[in-house]
Amino acid sequence: MTLSLLTITLLGLLAPLVPAAPSANRIQKRTFKVDRLINDNFQGHNGPRQLLKAYRKHSLPIPDGLEDAAERETQRRRSAKREIMLKSANSNVKAANVGVVAATPELGDVEYLSPISIGGQTINVDFDSGSADLWVFSTELPKGSTAGHQLFNQTKSKTFKPVPDQFFAIKYGDGSTASGSIGTDRVEVGGVTVTHQAVGVATSVSPEFVADIPNNGLFGLAFSKLNQVKPTKQNTFFDNVMSSLAEPLWTADLRKGSVGAYEFGRIDSTKHTGHLTWIPSDTEEGFWKFSTSGYSVGNETSELIKVAEGHTIADTGTTLMLVNQEVSDKYYSQVPGSKFMAHLGGVTFPCDTKLPDLFLDVGGVYTAKIKGADINFAKLKGGALCYGGIQGTTSTTQIWGDVFFRSQFVAFHGGNHSLGMAPHS
Ligand SMILES: *[C@@H]1O[C@H](CO)[C@@H](O)[C@H](O)[C@H]1NC(C)=O
Ligand SMILES: *[C@@H]1O[C@H](CO)[C@@H](O)[C@H](O)[C@H]1NC(C)=O
Ligand SMILES: *[C@@H]1O[C@H](CO)[C@@H](O)[C@H](O)[C@H]1NC(C)=O
Repeated sequence: MTLSLLTITLLGLLAPLVPAAPSANRIQKRTFKVDRLINDNFQGHNGPRQLLKAYRKHSLPIPDGLEDAAERETQRRRSAKREIMLKSANSNVKAANVGVVAATPELGDVEYLSPISIGGQTINVDFDSGSADLWVFSTELPKGSTAGHQLFNQTKSKTFKPVPDQFFAIKYGDGSTASGSIGTDRVEVGGVTVTHQAVGVATSVSPEFVADIPNNGLFGLAFSKLNQVKPTKQNTFFDNVMSSLAEPLWTADLRKGSVGAYEFGRIDSTKHTGHLTWIPSDTEEGFWKFSTSGYSVGNETSELIKVAEGHTIADTGTTLMLVNQEVSDKYYSQVPGSKFMAHLGGVTFPCDTKLPDLFLDVGGVYTAKIKGADINFAKLKGGALCYGGIQGTTSTTQIWGDVFFRSQFVAFHGGNHSLGMAPHS
């Protein structure tokens, strides 16, 4: 992990460390920005694993063979990782002789994380628009779960207060789970502080989280009604700061192969082209959900082909894009050599294929262009075949994850529950 990437940019006029909630009316309206870190994570580009994760996170039926495929790919990547670690250990020795600090191995596999501060302790977490809990790895975890992770130590925090009789227990990710106790603490993100933010202090995490070394927790950005704290649901950080922001919104500017940014309180119009189109979001279940009912392949000017209207969740915490099965089939029918491979649980194609762009209806008012280059997700063993970043969903729910966000700049408007979209600049 290259810590030099850890930068927090303050934008606008920030009053230093003023409590942002709940007494929000005393506070200057503000904006803030958090850059993401690139996480050189070997699991990141495990196509089957990411697909499985998307299905499980949203409790969708899992296609036959996918679980086995994900596990095989994990084993393969583990042995590849061992090899690379050996190689980089050797090159470190050489580099040390000439006084150069070894750079992080270039692996191409990326997952994105952002820093937050809890009671003065900085922790890198995953900003997730598909969930609504903030929880972190902690010193309360059993020793076997913590190697390599940043741990929140509640005893060390002068501002931490346990909330008795409240707990969290979440199941998501690749069947992964996390549970623990609840406290409130001073949480700071990009220079904005919530003095009594509910924080889940993990006392148990499943092996998937343990293995994902650079990631130390989740920062939920869905609606608070999805919050999993029991018996009393807690507000998300965004809900707590919303009224103190210049505008009640946050934006995701996530780009392929580079550090993206989440920005709160304003829309940086230099980050997108043209104007944003606003799409109303159905937030009944607590997700950033919208409808979609048409597509076209390859040609921007051709009319969209209608498909059964489906519900879609905008999910920054999912890597791949699950779309209507018919759309996936029609898309890959235009990709020479593409094939659904049951033992991999998804569609693959020869890596040298130039993929066409995919155009998708959003809410009947916007057409999102997903660039062909962004749909090539990852090389499979041998390097000749690649795994599709877009796959068909097994249900009527579609999940649009990072593959979507790489093509589109997206604003999440908490004031009027709508999503603003435009292509990246
Ligand atoms: C947590 O912090 C306390 C107070 O600084 C310290 O005594 C304790 O050793 C820390 N726990 C761990 C596991 O680091
Ligand atoms: C939500 O607010 C934005 C910006 O304030 C506005 O442009 C947009 O039209 C609104 N969306 C809806 C669905 O009203
Ligand atoms: C794209 O679609 C338009 C309208 O249907 C058509 O006129 C044009 O020839 C198409 N372009 C390509 C490259 O297929």
